[in-house]
Amino acid sequence: MKSIYRISAVLYLAAGSLTIVQASEPLSLPAELDTFRHINTLVVPAADSPIQGVHHFYMNRKGLETFNKDASRKSYPDGTKILGKVYKPIETADGRIKEGQLAAFTYMVKDPESPATKDTGGWHFLKYDAKGKPVEINPVKDCFGCHRPHEASDFVMSRPLQ
Ligand code: HEC
Repeated sequence: MKSIYRISAVLYLAAGSLTIVQASEPLSLPAELDTFRHINTLVVPAADSPIQGVHHFYMNRKGLETFNKDASRKSYPDGTKILGKVYKPIETADGRIKEGQLAAFTYMVKDPESPATKDTGGWHFLKYDAKGKPVEINPVKDCFGCHRPHEASDFVMSRPLQ
């Protein structure tokens, strides 16, 4: 599985002067996905929607405390990860929607210290194909347009079911 890279600032001392060096760090699909909990499922059958698919969302432990126990959910801790597994929707002859093959992954990672998240509310918005290969997207245009209005819940729309 290929990973994409984000820039992080690393401080080091060279020749007696303090220098800031950019180093890259992998940001790939989470290896610890089996510790994530399912939080929500969204079904979008319309072919003309940019988010067509059956989306199952999973959150890591770091975010779950806020998701489950903080009624305001106004700020998730740094390091919160939310993974979407997106399956192709199949419409049956009698009009039902079934889940087809895995089509993509969507992924949000809270990392406000990263310069890469300054225009997307402190979150990385990432997409991968069904094999986990990063898909090139513009997070502001392709993702944040829909998530931006949800600033009150830290740009996360999912909430526990009543
Ligand atoms: C057309 C609007 C739209 C676009 C574009 C969009 N999303 Fe979302 N996203 C949603 C909706 C709606 C939900 C689920 C809301 C619910 O079920 O309450 C959601 C949920 C999510 C979640 C689960 C956390 C949450 O906010 O509930 C992740 C992760 C996610 N989207 C990632 C992405 C990524 C990455 C992109 C860009 C590749 C993207 N989204 C683009 C509308 C959108």
